[in-house]
Amino acid sequence: MTDVAGEAKRRRTFAVISHPDAGKSTMTEALALHASAITQAGAVHGKAGRRGVTSDWMELERTRGISITSAALRFEHRGHVFNLVDTPGHADFSEDTYRVLAAVDCAVMLIDAAKGMEPQTMKLFEVCRHRRIPVITFVNKWDRPGREALQLLDEIEERTGLRPTPITWPVGISGDFHGVVDRAEQRLIRYLRTPGGATKAQEADLTTEQAQAEWGGDWLRAGEEVALLDEIGADHDQKAFESHESTPVLFGAALTNFGVGRLLDALADLAPAPGPRADIADRPRPVESPFSGLVFKVQANMDPAHRDRIAFVRVCSGRFQRGMVLTHAATGRPFATKYAQAMFGQERATVDEAFPGDVVGLVNATALRPGDTLYDGPAVTYPPIPSFAPEHFAVARARNSGKSKQFRRGIDQLDAEGVIQVLRSDLRGDQAPVLAAVGPMQFEVVQHRLAAEFGAEISLDHLDYTLARRTDSASAELMAGQRGAEVLMRSSDETLLAVFTDRWRMGSIKSDHPGLVLEPLIADT
Ligand code: G4P
Repeated sequence: MTDVAGEAKRRRTFAVISHPDAGKSTMTEALALHASAITQAGAVHGKAGRRGVTSDWMELERTRGISITSAALRFEHRGHVFNLVDTPGHADFSEDTYRVLAAVDCAVMLIDAAKGMEPQTMKLFEVCRHRRIPVITFVNKWDRPGREALQLLDEIEERTGLRPTPITWPVGISGDFHGVVDRAEQRLIRYLRTPGGATKAQEADLTTEQAQAEWGGDWLRAGEEVALLDEIGADHDQKAFESHESTPVLFGAALTNFGVGRLLDALADLAPAPGPRADIADRPRPVESPFSGLVFKVQANMDPAHRDRIAFVRVCSGRFQRGMVLTHAATGRPFATKYAQAMFGQERATVDEAFPGDVVGLVNATALRPGDTLYDGPAVTYPPIPSFAPEHFAVARARNSGKSKQFRRGIDQLDAEGVIQVLRSDLRGDQAPVLAAVGPMQFEVVQHRLAAEFGAEISLDHLDYTLARRTDSASAELMAGQRGAEVLMRSSDETLLAVFTDRWRMGSIKSDHPGLVLEPLIADT
């Protein structure tokens, strides 16, 4: 009998969150390289010109050369099993990016040393805060001129409210990086550059005397800074980290593999293993209970030859065995798992068993929706994944009125998959729903999929709205006929959303009607 609790304990399931260009793809490669999942950096992510494992399932992805779908990369290191759940960091990212965070136990926040905290890092960070996901911060690109380390710490604290607790401290300013002081282990580590960073960076321990001789003034300065950190008590505290009050910070450069091994160690040592997950009634289900899993992403037609639909499930408890017949909590119907796969992009491998923290792709998952629970044994339903504040709105219409049935079916399908939020009102009617997205690329996906899969070409009329608030029917009446605002009902959960062209418009309507109910949605920063 496999020891489920023991297997869970070895798992580290995390995501890297960053603003586009901060180095997420490079870091993913570097982590996998360190864990020896791949032999040469460059084989994991599908950046231009490199052979990518990242999905290119969809034609749209191929033409845009970017990754829209997310999957998970699994690798082992020091006896731990790491599941790196991919969050596409493109500027045009979508709700999927946020949803994958429902599947992780920890996040690595990657910060560009020259740019500091950037807008998308903050948005993703907000989701981590909301979910209370502990965050490890990695200051990347330290090989290039950037800001000062202490200045970056201030910025992290100011913008996130987390107390930064450096695990490593750089010797040498950004752009002139010699190595790090490992504060916890009291080690001095010198980094030696390897050509192109394609292989593991060489690390060597130095004595204080050697550091003094080799690094001179930079060493003295680092020593002073470390003394200051000690003085102000910026030390790692596991409880504060797990309760989302502090963030361990590491410095390095993914491109040259500096500090990446230390990040992996920090994940192994500090990131929480999968623990009991609370159900909708707030009752925790222990990891060793019979199987349960949360669907955090559904992707249709990844493989055009098969027209399949894959649901990505994060195992929350128990042992998953391919072939199990599970119960779909939302419908009470059985769900057969004959075709379970672990996947990362084009590479699909059949999964025979999986443990808490692992991600499994279930093929032919027509009935499954993001947020759904699957279980074996005693029934469980996990809380739904909250939907996010849309910032882009457009009215969709079928170009060919003869295709209105296909159009409606397609819109309902994409709504159910969570590809886009569908908003309706009596005023606008059924044939002209408002599509609402977190990232504009979601519209392209809808347009593409409606045409390709449902034969319904659509036109989109973009609306000027940029923000949404949850409201109620009394407020909807007060808002009727207001310029620059409208109330619509979200089809998936019948939430009433008040949408506005901008904050000023919202402010002025609110001041005219102080009784208006306007509640923020998540990720509304
Ligand atoms: P992303 O996935 O977050 O969008 O970022 P990505 O890894 O693609 O990195 C963005 C750019 O930053 C890349 O350069 C990459 O080589 C560079 N980069 C990543 N980490 C480091 C680092 O530690 N140090 C330095 N100096 N550069 C780093 P690019 O020129 O845009 O792309 P490429 O042509 O090199 O692929």
